[in-house]
Amino acid sequence: MTGPGDNGGNGDRPGSDTRGGTRRKVLYGRRKGRRLRAGRRALVENLLPRVEIPVPEGDAKIDPQTIFPGPPREIWLEIGFGAGEHLAWQAARNPDIGFIGCEPFINGVARLLTAIEADGLDNIRIFRDDAGVLLAALPARSIRRVFVLFSDPWPKTRHHKRRFISPANLALLAQALDSGAELRVATDDPGYQAWIMEHVLASGAFEWLARRPGDWRTRPADWPATRYEEKAVKAGRRAVFFRFRRLPPAANGGV
Ligand SMILES: C[S@@+](CC[C@H](N)C(=O)[O-])C[C@H]1O[C@@H](n2cnc3c(N)ncnc32)[C@H](O)[C@@H]1O
Repeated sequence: MTGPGDNGGNGDRPGSDTRGGTRRKVLYGRRKGRRLRAGRRALVENLLPRVEIPVPEGDAKIDPQTIFPGPPREIWLEIGFGAGEHLAWQAARNPDIGFIGCEPFINGVARLLTAIEADGLDNIRIFRDDAGVLLAALPARSIRRVFVLFSDPWPKTRHHKRRFISPANLALLAQALDSGAELRVATDDPGYQAWIMEHVLASGAFEWLARRPGDWRTRPADWPATRYEEKAVKAGRRAVFFRFRRLPPAANGGV
């Protein structure tokens, strides 16, 4: 993937602020890009309010079982879905699953809305803020699968603390994921790859599901390529596809 410098543009800069009385965390990325075309603007105005999960006030929780048309069999979450092609693919093939997509970048959200409308997907809900805020508001053990695909690698050492895979976010993931739930993480950055493995395993909450190199070097059939993966491949970089399982807290010293 390209570097985090891409996250400059004309969008909002990192910083914490307040909206509706709710404190938001620092977000390292942009919320807006180019002006939306009329069709996408119309979707943001008319469809987004029907599928958006509002940022909860204060310590309020989100009950994911109540935000879909019917009670879903499981809740899956994609963090930083970009243009949403992986999320739309999963949602179309798993109609009994409720999907939460988290993405602060409105241009990406607008692209996902296009797919939601075109494919008649009624099992996607969108959270347009920092995934840390969302994870903190989800009930314990409410999520069965999480996708974190090509999150920004922040290659400069002084920026490593901005990486999404971090001890703080892993603790939030561990509390939101049910025992046995799956965490899928992809990256094309070798430094971030090593960091992800080290931090996920050090959290004590997850085990790595790979048994042989092909398990992480080859993308599984139920895991479509994203735009960032395609960019990486074109640029001659290799991606890795990690699958971890949430361990039962009792099996791991209560973590
Ligand atoms: C490099 S892009 C990858 C997009 C997509 N997953 C793909 O593979 O094409 C990283 C995405 O994560 C989003 N992002 C960055 N920080 C985030 C955060 N704290 N919470 C949720 N999404 C975030 C960005 O807006 C961006 O769309």
